Amino acid sequence: MTEPGAAVVALDREHHRGAVDHRLFGSFVEHMGRCVYTGIYEPTHPSADAEGFRGDVSALVRELGVTLVRYPGGNFVSGYDWRDGIGPREQRPRRLDLAWRSIETNQVGTDEFMSWARARGVEPMLAVNLGTAGVLDAAALVEYCNVPEGTEWSERRRRNGALKPHEVKLWCLGNEMDGPWQTGHTTAQRYGALASEAAKAMRLVDPDIELVACGSSSHDMPTFGYWESAVLEAAGEHIDYISMHAYYEEHDGDRASFLASGASMDSFIEDVTATIDAVAARRRSKRRRKINISFDEWNVWYQSRYPGSEAMAIDIAGPRIEDQYAALDAVVVGDLLSSLLNHSDRVKIACLAQLVNVIAPIMTEPGGAIWRQPTFHPFAAVASAARGHSLVTRVSATELATRRYGDVPAVAASATHDPTTGDVAVFLTNRAPHPVTVDLKHSGFERWMTLSALHIAADDRGPRDRATAADLRLTPLSVSAAEEGRSGCITLPPHSWTVVQAATASTH
Ligand code: AHR
Repeated sequence: MTEPGAAVVALDREHHRGAVDHRLFGSFVEHMGRCVYTGIYEPTHPSADAEGFRGDVSALVRELGVTLVRYPGGNFVSGYDWRDGIGPREQRPRRLDLAWRSIETNQVGTDEFMSWARARGVEPMLAVNLGTAGVLDAAALVEYCNVPEGTEWSERRRRNGALKPHEVKLWCLGNEMDGPWQTGHTTAQRYGALASEAAKAMRLVDPDIELVACGSSSHDMPTFGYWESAVLEAAGEHIDYISMHAYYEEHDGDRASFLASGASMDSFIEDVTATIDAVAARRRSKRRRKINISFDEWNVWYQSRYPGSEAMAIDIAGPRIEDQYAALDAVVVGDLLSSLLNHSDRVKIACLAQLVNVIAPIMTEPGGAIWRQPTFHPFAAVASAARGHSLVTRVSATELATRRYGDVPAVAASATHDPTTGDVAVFLTNRAPHPVTVDLKHSGFERWMTLSALHIAADDRGPRDRATAADLRLTPLSVSAAEEGRSGCITLPPHSWTVVQAATASTH
């Protein structure tokens, strides 16, 4: 039994869930608010490159360590005709975007996004419109992007300047089709049938693509579970992933529940995994690879502070949901990353939503400055340190009572080990309102040498404003060796998130 101020976290190098997929460190660029315009793209900005992309944003995207970016939505995609965004810019239409009640100028479209993504070394993940468009539109977009030459759409791409195919591997079959707010919202059966037909047609264009069907927009959706089962029954033979979306916030000052967001994410993932496997068992599926999870929207979002889009005034690329984050939010983002790592045997893709300005780790001023939000730091730390295998961590800690999620462990942990380099990273959340001393047992590792321990604590939070955010960094904690080097002791401050990095003997 552990005391409230103490916990044990044990690692075993032989006990892991397999490799952490590099696609776990994805993000999301939607045509929404200032994510694209004055976010990634601003031709008049002093740092803009020849294509009009902001150089200062590109530098922070690299520093963040993003590996994959989903595009162009989100709710936006359900009203989007991708043909509006190709060809000569001066001929592109200005459209009313119904999802965010904005005017879409289409100055950035598929070719520009692809160029942006490739030059920044991030994998593109494209969503097709299954809300107001159909099977042929989806297949035509795959043809435009992936067929080398000799067809109507591949030749259009070549005439638009992209001689080589974009080779987009990952495709989302619509967005949040279970949500009544979605343009083209429908039933699970209808969506499942449509997704199945779109998947077949898209694969006939390019058999090598990977497909993501829409799961539920959140664990709290009234159709949750039923939706996944029906979609998997209808489209299961044609898809590779089912999506999950989840946003967390502090409701009415209930900090304890907010800090337990990772525990809530754990049970959401475990429920979806169980549903995937139950449907596969019932169908006596002979698939070689199980259907996995694409957690393609997750973040902290103070959603309850915003009116629905029907109450938003029509605006041309004006701001939308520009949450200002505090250190507390960074602690929760770190905890959510641990949940993703701890399920990396089934969660193969994840996207922090979104990348710039819209509930984002990176913020810009039009024509001006750029800064990192507090949530930038845990994401960058995990994306850079989590390599190799996801280790099973055994945590002994007291339980904390929460209003929303019941009893949760006071300490959450995840860890990775790269057998080729010997590098180990351990990620720890202290959800308790008091310090907790963690006995970090790593007895199975040879020549363990702790290199660093960096943390962020909610006590640093201050008001949610730009000045506070820009100053926040991860700061050092000390780790003392114990038990002849087979264990380390680290005291986690109240409401904090910590990354410990160590070098150990490699297997090569
Ligand atoms: O990321 C903001 C919005 O949240 C997306 O457009 C939508 O998919 C989700 O509801």
